[in-house]
Amino acid sequence: MHIQVKDIIEETHQNLRKSYAPYSNFNVSCGIITKNGKVYYGVNVENSSFGMSVCAESAAICQMVLDGETEIQTLIVMASSEQLCSPCGACRQRISEFADASAEILMCNKEGILKKATIDELFPLAFNLKRHSTGTPDE
Ligand code: THU
Repeated sequence: MHIQVKDIIEETHQNLRKSYAPYSNFNVSCGIITKNGKVYYGVNVENSSFGMSVCAESAAICQMVLDGETEIQTLIVMASSEQLCSPCGACRQRISEFADASAEILMCNKEGILKKATIDELFPLAFNLKRHSTGTPDE
């Protein structure tokens, strides 16, 4: 069955109401389609100890990895504000772990796509440990 991006955008929109954001009142929802055609969702989950809050993208990526998937094809992010919600810096690093140049990051509202970007556009010169040798530090 072919996945329609617009259906995943709609489900991501429906999930906004499940976000737990009593401190910021800023609800965020994320949907991921992998290269194998699997779909995962996440919402932000805040905490009284603010620094422990989990972003929507992070929650969705954890669901994806738990299911054995590691290649993002499309990542949808949207906020209840309906204005463009661009992934935070930490989430750009998380997305870059699982997104290559062909992956699309779609910043959406309930009407559809507001902006489309690649991870390299959002996060140039990303740190990637796999590109480094991990020998003894230079003296
Ligand atoms: N938030 C996300 O879930 N994803 C982002 O990329 C930006 C920020 C959440 C974290 C916090 O719960 C709320 O939005 C306000 O910062």
